[in-house]
Amino acid sequence: MTQPVQILMCAPHHYEVDYVINPWMEGNIHRSSRDRAEEQWHQLYEILKEHATVELVEPHPGWPDMVFTANAGLVLGDTVVLSRFFHPERQGEEPYFEQWFADQGFTVKTLPKSLPFEGAGDALLDRAGELLWAGYGFRTELDAHPYLAQWLDVEVLSLRLIDRRFYHLDTCFCPLTDGYLLYYPPAFDTYSNHLIERRVPADKRIVVDEVDAVNFACNAVNIDHTIVLNQASDQLKKTLVARGFQVVETPLTEFLKAGGAAKCLTLRVTEPRQASPRATAIQNRIVHFEGHLLDSGLVNRALDTIVAGGGSFQVLNFTLGEQRQDVSTAEVKVSAPDAAVIEDILGQLVDLGAVVQSEDTADAHLEAIVQAGVAPDDFYVTAIYPTEISVDGRWIPVQAQRMDAAIAVTQTADGPVACCKLLRDLQVGESVVVGSEGIRTRRKDTSLKPRSSEEFSFMGAGVSSERRVELVVEQIAWDLRRIRDQGGKAVVTAGPVVIHTGGSEHLQTLIRGGYIHGLLGGNAIAVHDIEQALMGTSLGMDMQRGVSVHGGHRHHLKAINTIRRCGSIAQAVEQGVLQSGVMYECVKHNVPFSLAGSIRDDGPLPDTQMDLLQAQADYARLIEGADLVLMLSTMLHSIGVGNMTPAGVKMVCVDINPAVVTKLSDRGSLESIGVVTDVGLFLSLLVNQLNKLTGEYAAPV
Ligand code: ARG
Repeated sequence: MTQPVQILMCAPHHYEVDYVINPWMEGNIHRSSRDRAEEQWHQLYEILKEHATVELVEPHPGWPDMVFTANAGLVLGDTVVLSRFFHPERQGEEPYFEQWFADQGFTVKTLPKSLPFEGAGDALLDRAGELLWAGYGFRTELDAHPYLAQWLDVEVLSLRLIDRRFYHLDTCFCPLTDGYLLYYPPAFDTYSNHLIERRVPADKRIVVDEVDAVNFACNAVNIDHTIVLNQASDQLKKTLVARGFQVVETPLTEFLKAGGAAKCLTLRVTEPRQASPRATAIQNRIVHFEGHLLDSGLVNRALDTIVAGGGSFQVLNFTLGEQRQDVSTAEVKVSAPDAAVIEDILGQLVDLGAVVQSEDTADAHLEAIVQAGVAPDDFYVTAIYPTEISVDGRWIPVQAQRMDAAIAVTQTADGPVACCKLLRDLQVGESVVVGSEGIRTRRKDTSLKPRSSEEFSFMGAGVSSERRVELVVEQIAWDLRRIRDQGGKAVVTAGPVVIHTGGSEHLQTLIRGGYIHGLLGGNAIAVHDIEQALMGTSLGMDMQRGVSVHGGHRHHLKAINTIRRCGSIAQAVEQGVLQSGVMYECVKHNVPFSLAGSIRDDGPLPDTQMDLLQAQADYARLIEGADLVLMLSTMLHSIGVGNMTPAGVKMVCVDINPAVVTKLSDRGSLESIGVVTDVGLFLSLLVNQLNKLTGEYAAPV
């Protein structure tokens, strides 16, 4: 060791668990023993004195957590960045620590008010002194990290803590001599784990298990090759010894009750400065929101999105509309540990309706396609909401809105045109929007309201509310009438369950009644329907009697075979072979249908499109201009349809499985309604209701 190590401690004369500011303190108020705390602290003090000089700061009554000197500040060279405690319970410690540092001649840096940072508890230098690992998520704000980089002239790597038990970085992360790192990976988010893995070679990472982690094994004081800690498993001790360390255990159970152990009780005040570049990858951007921000819950959603995505925020401005109809505006600064993370967050914020501000231009950034069917890495992924992009200072609408596409921009004689395009359709020479600037989406304000209130359970276990299903059916019947009579378009996606559950005759009634203008499904619905029409069974089940017919499964293939002989479903109808059923009605009433193939298809029917790209294109064509999509018990085809459908198209999803309904109606769009019920029953209710309406509703002629 070149320089003697100096450590700051604070005697536990006023130590107590007086309040709860971390999960360890829960249930421990006034449960610690002062005598035992004194004894444990002294033992630690004596051990450390063998390896370092220990300085003391005077404890003060009323500030029981002052023993945890790690949180006094962060020292590098002769500079200290003072802590700004997150919880008021500890803020009173700040002046005492500040005084101590000033008395020792440190240059004291203080962060702006309300920018929390909890010192060496959340910032750990690697033992070579070349870089600083800084935590955020519970006590320290990400925006404090750039100050550390600047004031201490050190590279800062930000790590996000996600487990409340490990609220300070030093509770789960401990850089050791010779480049080793002792840590508990589950305490960090995925991004942070990747960062650690990128920066610390695998043979230097010493991972502790949960038992060691909750015994505060990572909260260790490392001086040269000695590691002082509360307790470690034999396995961990063996690992450390094999790496050349000597492990000293000293019980600190009284301090665990407040959420701290060896490292928390110390602050290293001699951290030699190493020449190193000052850098931080932290990015920040300003985003604007406008609308009924409070009523719609948009601000909450946006701020949650930022935090859940690994970023942090600062609300710079918030102007609240005075009356109910007035809009509010907000300006929020978003920070994230690096460019990839911030782009991810910004993309989601744009979907919520935010406009991202850039320094130089308000326009969307465009990048040329250089390989057909492949977009640049940071291409903007579209959502279902009406979208506009700014080109040459003007907002232009994006055409063919759908989700999961790129926005391609082409120059025409009438100016630039923007259009949603699937990756596979991108052409060399075209440009697509990258990043998240100069893009805005418009969603109905209420479209953010939670979905759960619109999902109705009927036959599902637990709460079943028949009346609520009837209410939805009434509404859908009303919509179907209106759409038909106004020359609109209603499309159905249907799975074979429609046939099994006896829904076929009702679906036929709807087709005959002119309510349906397109049918989307797979091979199965058509085969089941045709089998029923030809043989009275559906996958071998007698639909009249509800029993399986001996050898009935052959019916399935025979039905396919019959249609194959005819050439197509339409030809089977024409030849008089197929005389009833859903497919028959489609042919008879010129309702276009598309059957998308899959790996498990029997046959298939000649009409089934086994080229999936072509099937997707057929679906898209049939959906175009739809006002309503009725999704009947087919998750796969309905999800496919959902991806192609812009917001504003009403989607009604009916399935007996609540998980399917939730998945499908969870598009954050006001227009989707989920109904958990038996689909056959639903269709019969719907037809009944439409029949009732016939007398009362005079259709325009
Ligand atoms: N009760 C203290 C708090 O919650 C414990 C601090 C532990 N210090 C540490 N560096 N982890 O703030």
